Amino acid sequence: MHKVYDNILETVGDTPLVKLNRVTRGLQCTVYAKVEFMNPAGSVKDRIAIHIIEEAERRGEIQPGATIIEGTSGNTGAGLAMVAALKGYKAIFVLPDKQSEEKRAALRAWGARVVVTPTNVEPEDPRSYYSVAKRLVEETPNSFYANQYYNPDNPATHYKFTAPELYSQIDGKLDVFIGGMGTGGTITGVGKYLKEKNPNIKIVGVDPVGSLYYDYFHTGQLTEPHTYVLEGIGEDFLPSTMDFQYVDDVIRVNDRECFQMTRRLVREEGLYIGGSCGAAVAGALKYLKRHDRPGLTAVVLLPDSSSKYLSKIFNDGWMRENGFLDPETRFGTVSDLISGRSERTLITIEPSARVTEAVGVLKLHGISQMPVVDDGKLLGVLFEKRVLEKALEGGPASSAVGDIVDASYCTVDGDTEIGVLAELFRRFKVAVVLGEHSKPTDIITRIDLIDYISRSTNGTA
Ligand SMILES: Cc1ncc(COP(=O)(O)O)c(C=O)c1O
Repeated sequence: MHKVYDNILETVGDTPLVKLNRVTRGLQCTVYAKVEFMNPAGSVKDRIAIHIIEEAERRGEIQPGATIIEGTSGNTGAGLAMVAALKGYKAIFVLPDKQSEEKRAALRAWGARVVVTPTNVEPEDPRSYYSVAKRLVEETPNSFYANQYYNPDNPATHYKFTAPELYSQIDGKLDVFIGGMGTGGTITGVGKYLKEKNPNIKIVGVDPVGSLYYDYFHTGQLTEPHTYVLEGIGEDFLPSTMDFQYVDDVIRVNDRECFQMTRRLVREEGLYIGGSCGAAVAGALKYLKRHDRPGLTAVVLLPDSSSKYLSKIFNDGWMRENGFLDPETRFGTVSDLISGRSERTLITIEPSARVTEAVGVLKLHGISQMPVVDDGKLLGVLFEKRVLEKALEGGPASSAVGDIVDASYCTVDGDTEIGVLAELFRRFKVAVVLGEHSKPTDIITRIDLIDYISRSTNGTA
């Protein structure tokens, strides 16, 4: 008899590694996709759902008839709803309203209750999905909070199961692992295991424009997050399940390239995958273009399936309305912008400098902002506006610059595409360019970008 299973939970894991053949054209390395939509509830999150519940049962934290509660972007909910259905628990899920209707409907299909909350509120706001989930846990007797953003059993799942599985599938012959970062559970658990097996394996995270992981990884600073359309990856806070010590690089992607790559993966590779998979592959290709060589093997993890995004990413009307179908006008990269500009030295200031001194420097060079740098590390940006506010507050003119650094900037590198920079500038006024060892090398303002684009379209850049 072929293998049979006692119940559906036994079929979680053991997902295939499938070579990417078309979207990788032009690269010399080999890229395999770990196809997680093959899990029974449709995503990589089935793995953590079982492990989180079974570890809690083992510790006696879940009693018969319990209600499992989670604030989830959908996939963890599906995994937990499946586990709850099988094990006879009740389930309540709290979802931000940007999540697709298909995800909510799937949770209800398993018998779970769904509570929808607004997306555009701070995590501390009582209406946020974090706060609502917490309140429900307090109010519901015999409840268990799966808490994927803070539960160590989340990264532990990937350390114990996902990583050893993929490592043995490929006989340990891999050089790079690439994955998106939501809770960070996948990259942290897989990264820890692979680094223990072979510290030379590079672990690369992919982060959407708007999330704070990219800037945090490259500068150690928390910049202002903002909303983006992609579901499943990127965060506006730092969960404890995300541990950057196992991460070698973070690559940034924008909504448009993620969605266009998602559609290509389905049409050209036949992989019925979701938006964060397009993000992971778009990020992987950016990284691999820089590090390509024959014989290099990369694995990129594809978390979920197309089914939950049919009304969005796979709907031409929705794609067009949001401007994601427009052909990308190619303006090159940040390096092109910088090299077309007249030579200049980056003016920076130390955090210990006095505000009065900063005023002198801004005046002397005729600039409106400058990076605050300590021992080669970017701490933030000092804006003329903040200096003025400080003066008006009547605070001591001798206070330190470090007290009024601003987080409303973003960081880019020479390879950042102009399209991504333009998207960042919808929100931020300046971008600090980071060079080797994340050292600030330049600063770009909106007017620099306008000037570059108009020179490019006039053929003078
Ligand atoms: C579709 C999708 N992709 C990727 C991820 C990220 O995985 P992790 O939370 O392990 O970082 C998630 C997590 O919610 C997800 O739902």
